[in-house]
Amino acid sequence: MSVALTGAAAAGIRQAAAQAQPNIALIKYWGKRDVALNLPVVGSLSITLDSLWTRTSVQFDAALSQDEFLLDGRRDDAQLRRVAKCLDLLRARAGTHVRARVESSNNFPTGAGLASSASGFAALIVAGNAALDLDLSLAEQSIFARRCSGSAARSIFGGYVEWTRGKRDDGSDSLANPMLDASAWPLHVVVAITSKREKAIGSTEGMNRTADTSPYQRAWIDGQETDLVIARAAIQAHDFEKLADISEHSCLKMHALALAAQPGLLYWNAATMDCMHRVRALRASGVPVFFTIDAGPQVKAVCEPQAAAAVAAALREVPGVLDVVETGLGPAARLIELDELAVA
Ligand code: DP6
Repeated sequence: MSVALTGAAAAGIRQAAAQAQPNIALIKYWGKRDVALNLPVVGSLSITLDSLWTRTSVQFDAALSQDEFLLDGRRDDAQLRRVAKCLDLLRARAGTHVRARVESSNNFPTGAGLASSASGFAALIVAGNAALDLDLSLAEQSIFARRCSGSAARSIFGGYVEWTRGKRDDGSDSLANPMLDASAWPLHVVVAITSKREKAIGSTEGMNRTADTSPYQRAWIDGQETDLVIARAAIQAHDFEKLADISEHSCLKMHALALAAQPGLLYWNAATMDCMHRVRALRASGVPVFFTIDAGPQVKAVCEPQAAAAVAAALREVPGVLDVVETGLGPAARLIELDELAVA
């Protein structure tokens, strides 16, 4: 009995699609101990978001002479090298040289400090793993994603996630693990978008410059384990105030470190700063909210769910805030049907 092949399979195309959500670090990753393997100098801890996503399809097609990458419907040759490097990792494991077409879409602005590389590369690894039938464990998927972009290691999982620094030189112990389900402590995140432009200095370049030139690098590394211990305990105890204090501390420390690089890295604009003051004022008046900011000007206000509407309204009023996006905490990266890709 012969089995009918689908059109794609009959043509030698191996394809799959996946969705992943960005994650926001509460205890930040900044700095690499091995640039080639993308190993961090510190561990980090994050929350995976819900309603922001990247959807990616990957088609390994013997008819292609080179890899192709489309982002939001347009060829993106600037990002192609990075995508191709990630595909190379998957190909090396599969023992194939077949080129691939990768199509990705984000429902949020790319490259503006909203962690698009985290969700983007996590989705690519999950889709690539399925397309090539690699059967990678979740731990392996996290390691593969880490090699493509550090923070992507954490977007493989949902809820509260810790990425362990690891000690081994080969990076086999530097991967993320889920800590707590989103539903166990369903915090919300209100993102104040203060610019839709791509940031001038990406995270990779920024953290490498910081490591080379910032006088605070040693202090940053030395303080991280204590911050992680405090954050883990706060999450286990659902202690909002404790998590607020340690998260703002980690964020401000990361930016202080980057500000002191040469030339200094200034990711904030005036609206970023105003939002930070607004969040602090809200918290002082009893609203359970704190801020965190990554390598860009957007402010992520993390709050208890019942405070989200008030936080969103307050941030919307800040001059220079272009848009406000509210989201809960979300699930792990997952496979989707190919036709879901087009649905925005
Ligand atoms: C400020 O994961 O984008 O968002 O590993 O070089 O791709 P690469 O860097 P990336 O850096 C994220 C930095 C951060 C903090 C964090 O997410 O922990």
